Amino acid sequence: MKLNGCFKSLIVGAFALALPMTALAAPAPIVIKFSHVVATETPKGQAANYFKKIAEERTKGQVKVEVYPNSQLYKDKEEMEALQLGAVQMLAPSLAKFAPLGVKEFEVFDLPFIFDNYTELHKVTQGPVGEKLLKKLEAKGIRGLAYWDNGFKVMSANKPLKAPADFKGQKMRIQSSKVLDAQMRSMGANPQVMAFSEVYQALQTGVVDGTENPPSNLYTQKMYEVQKYVTLSDHGYLGYAVIVNKKFWDGLPADIRTALESAMKDATKYANDVAKKDNDEALAAIKKSGKSQFITLTPQERAVWRKTMDKAHKDNMSRIGADLVQEVYKETGYNPN
Ligand code: LMR
Repeated sequence: MKLNGCFKSLIVGAFALALPMTALAAPAPIVIKFSHVVATETPKGQAANYFKKIAEERTKGQVKVEVYPNSQLYKDKEEMEALQLGAVQMLAPSLAKFAPLGVKEFEVFDLPFIFDNYTELHKVTQGPVGEKLLKKLEAKGIRGLAYWDNGFKVMSANKPLKAPADFKGQKMRIQSSKVLDAQMRSMGANPQVMAFSEVYQALQTGVVDGTENPPSNLYTQKMYEVQKYVTLSDHGYLGYAVIVNKKFWDGLPADIRTALESAMKDATKYANDVAKKDNDEALAAIKKSGKSQFITLTPQERAVWRKTMDKAHKDNMSRIGADLVQEVYKETGYNPN
């Protein structure tokens, strides 16, 4: 068919008009801002990016996940407030950071030596006790979706920390947990709560003398460059709860929520699969750098730590809830001796 010039331009004009209307008609994606405080290369950083990828795929672009690592948007305390206010939708704070919200029970995870390995830990995080704990967040306007592993903590300082006497007077940075406060005090140290984003500088300038963290954090924040000694103590666990603003989550269309739940399930598996390997690799990289010297505890020395730090259990029994602590002991077989 041959169209005359005028008719042709009419058609072109109609298309030109229709295009912006189509663009307007496409619904804007639902945005999930996912803020966290660690580096992208850590287990949490990688799992957050993996969640983004599969969540966007499975919702066919109807959801856009924006990941903000390294305290880029908010520091520890601020991110919790931002979630409750709805300024961000998703976080994965360390389990040691929930008490300031009023959910002190999460500090059970900070009890020193309560988990000997990931298998014992998973009995709690992947069992009914873990589920029950996540439910406690609902009253705070938060829904707990999953637990993501990081790893077991090492202790670092500029002097070798082998026996409790070595901790005397050392200013040790801790997360905002009363159990961690009690743990450091039991060893004779002087604990100082500080946001994660400030730790490197505080160590560098001597505001604090030492700290504790899984190797992945020690490495990616370059803390090891300003710590002469790292004690391979594995004295406690650090991991995360992935949480969302409840109102936001409950308000999602059901099919979208289902797709996101399936993405979270797979991201959780991913996080827990990479955690141990990443921490092992971080430790190897720190060792290779030669910047910090590693200290290994003999079984006898480690037993002294365990016994000494047991005070943190006793002192916090009623704060956490004796029943809950006993339930976790039952799962893990904790015994200070
Ligand atoms: C810390 O503050 O040391 C950790 O909770 C940081 C993190 O998110 O792993």
